[in-house]
Amino acid sequence: MSSFYLSKPYQPPPAPKNLPISDPWALFGGISPKRFMKEYWQKKPLLVRGAIPAFSLASQNSTPSLTSPISYEELVELSEHDDVESRLIQSKPWRFQHGPFQKKAVPSLKKSDWTLLLQGMEAHHLAAANILSWFRFIPDARLDDLMISVAGIGGGVGPHFDSYDVFLIQMSGRRQWRISEQKDLSLNPKLPLKILQNFQCEQEWILEPGDMLYLPPHIAHDGIALDAGCQTWSVGFRSPSFKELLQEGLWRLAESLEDIPELEQKFADPKQMATENAEQLPMELIKQLSNQVEKLKLHQIDAFLPGVTAYLSEPKQQAFFNGPAKPLNPNAFLKHLTQKELKPSPQTRILSLGKSVYCNGDEVTKNQVPQIVAAWITLSAKKALMTHKLSNIHGSSLYEAYLAGWLVFDQ
Ligand code: SIN
Ligand code: CO
Repeated sequence: MSSFYLSKPYQPPPAPKNLPISDPWALFGGISPKRFMKEYWQKKPLLVRGAIPAFSLASQNSTPSLTSPISYEELVELSEHDDVESRLIQSKPWRFQHGPFQKKAVPSLKKSDWTLLLQGMEAHHLAAANILSWFRFIPDARLDDLMISVAGIGGGVGPHFDSYDVFLIQMSGRRQWRISEQKDLSLNPKLPLKILQNFQCEQEWILEPGDMLYLPPHIAHDGIALDAGCQTWSVGFRSPSFKELLQEGLWRLAESLEDIPELEQKFADPKQMATENAEQLPMELIKQLSNQVEKLKLHQIDAFLPGVTAYLSEPKQQAFFNGPAKPLNPNAFLKHLTQKELKPSPQTRILSLGKSVYCNGDEVTKNQVPQIVAAWITLSAKKALMTHKLSNIHGSSLYEAYLAGWLVFDQ
């Protein structure tokens, strides 16, 4: 081997702020995100060879081959942290453990039949955040996270299905994927993991670094590592149940009634007549309550969309925010904002409902001056803000979010 490096870490670039969603992308095998959504999203699997062309270009040009920008050692180190959701799965026989792990608990690359899974990697590594940024042609509300798996030869989580849409990007080593559109999704009741009882492989491929496989929900699949240190990066999209959306929306709607002082007013029934059915809920109460429901438009969808949006903007459970060690005072903050980009911290979620913006579960545009509202709208849409237009941010939700570590300046 003439080259000093056997392999070189691939550094994924961040996506441009305005994604060219009508242009063909290598990531989707030469079709545009628009066409991908129309033909594949939630419909059928898509295998893309050379989804990240840099990998095959490097291997053709006798330059060092490319590998994952995050090493096995770094991943093991991350699995030791309690703010990282990690799992270790060993096969033969199947075993399952939750992190955080001690260094010794994660098998070495020489061992076989194990895999370490790390969720929410976009919050811990810029390369993962950059990969995720290419998927912003799918609504932010649907995005879950980027999970990284690293495995020894033979490692995998077994044949299973997910309720998620997932893009499985091969980043290091090879992985064999076997998939099936089978209807029988019954699980083996004897195992500590969700493993299909009767997996009937219909299609199989070996994915090389830079290849990608998209799977819609409920496609049975089984990925087995063929090389030690095999890494698969999965970009996952959640879809909450209607029960979850309604419960969370209604709960927040109930809370919001606190802000309407008129509702303290008590029910009164001067028109109540003598009744022979004293056990029945009074008609007068039903009538007046029904008027309130209508007046507050509680029977209309708009009433609880704020609660649903707030819910979907909640950060992950493990999210941890560190305010700046030496916070800038309001004037210094404004000056900074003219020169550096202010961005959501990697664990922050920002969603919009029309012109209202929700950040980490709070409606941050509520009771704010128009300048601040405009700043949040930009932050939500572009996930970055640099501006000369702000003049007073003291006490604003924008400055508060900066102090809380929800928003951070680009280095
Ligand atoms: C893996 O990356 O090993 C598993 C991903 C999956 O099948 O969901
Ligand atoms: Co899966």
